[in-house]
Amino acid sequence: MLDSGTIERFEKISTPFYYYDMDLLRRTVDTVAELSARHNLRVHYAVKANADSRILGYISSKGFGADCVSGNEVLHAYECGFPADKIVYAGVGKSDKEIHDAMKLGIEAFNCESLQEIFVINEMAREYDMVANVSVRINPDIDAHTHKYVTTGLYENKFGISQHEFDKLIELLDKSRNINFIGLHFHIGSQITRVAEVFALECERVNEIVSYFEQNGLKVKNINLGGGLGVDYDDPDGNPIPDFETWFSTIDRKIARRPDQAVHVEPGRSMVAQCGTLISRVVFVKSGETKNFLILDAGMNDLIRPALYGAYHRIENLSAQMRPFFGSHQAYDIVGPVCESSDVWGAGRLLPLSVRGDLMAIRSTGAYGQVMASRYNMKDLAPAVFSDRLDDAPRNNDYFKII
Ligand code: LLP
Repeated sequence: MLDSGTIERFEKISTPFYYYDMDLLRRTVDTVAELSARHNLRVHYAVKANADSRILGYISSKGFGADCVSGNEVLHAYECGFPADKIVYAGVGKSDKEIHDAMKLGIEAFNCESLQEIFVINEMAREYDMVANVSVRINPDIDAHTHKYVTTGLYENKFGISQHEFDKLIELLDKSRNINFIGLHFHIGSQITRVAEVFALECERVNEIVSYFEQNGLKVKNINLGGGLGVDYDDPDGNPIPDFETWFSTIDRKIARRPDQAVHVEPGRSMVAQCGTLISRVVFVKSGETKNFLILDAGMNDLIRPALYGAYHRIENLSAQMRPFFGSHQAYDIVGPVCESSDVWGAGRLLPLSVRGDLMAIRSTGAYGQVMASRYNMKDLAPAVFSDRLDDAPRNNDYFKII
């Protein structure tokens, strides 16, 4: 919930921008630190959710590791303070250069997603006279009950190695001299809301798979269960910090581990979504034939989630909250400026009567927001503005006050 002092200060800042509530980020990260220690889990933050340097700097300062999915993420995480031996690197299509750079950096592990990748990493390590740590990502064929675009653990998905290749995999790992097999990796999907049920199921399947590998002579030192904890997009103020306790305690209870086995998790969205808000302005109000449009200066180029997944984000009119009389409400189709019909923030949203220049908040946008932005239509990228550095934000030029 944004206070009136902050909203007043927003008036002076050029829109659109991503506002990060650093106090909420700290409270969220500190909660993860405390609960992961209590449940004896190692955390690798999924950099893909938000790769802002300040945010990464704070997360790395808490001693967490990083989960990366590209060579650039690996190098950036390292520059932002994550030690190389706490960086793991997943992804189905690592290029030779990306593998080379990560190997030279001495990362904790490559999370390999195909037999061919393991073969190539072994060959490259041999060429450099090195031994590379490898975890193998397994596709456990479990339904995460989430959006199909963020479901990753079914056989129809491209991720991980499936059961029919287990025996070939064990044979390959056995004979690959320049690879040190350290564990198994899983990630079944994102924005999981049936937390206890889905993660309990994942743990049961993981226990079976780990046993199979160990029975076949491979010591599984690390069990990495990936990320996926969902956040409350409907009520970000009611649930600013996601339910890490249910997630972690389910894993702690259900995973079968020996004292010398480490269990890892890779939260992304749950650590950063609620601290971010995309702040925009109404540029025009237009009455269509059958509906009223609020046209904002932020569009799908700034946040692609609604256009790509039909994702819901709560939208609030901040300026209307500041007016002495709230006035009546009206249904609006809230849209962006981009030349695509899918550039819609929300259809038929009930908002206080809104006018040109009103500041709008698009909530829960700290994860998969700024990182997925593009310059489509040659728009500028929305910058990051931090709650504890509001005075450093780019100033606007009072356009909306003149008219
Ligand atoms: N680990 C791996 C291997 C992953 O692929 C992901 C996310 C995570 C961890 C972190 O998952 P999280 O805790 O954030 O659910 N762009 C989509 C989400 C894509 C997630 C990709 N993988 C969205 O905006 O909803």
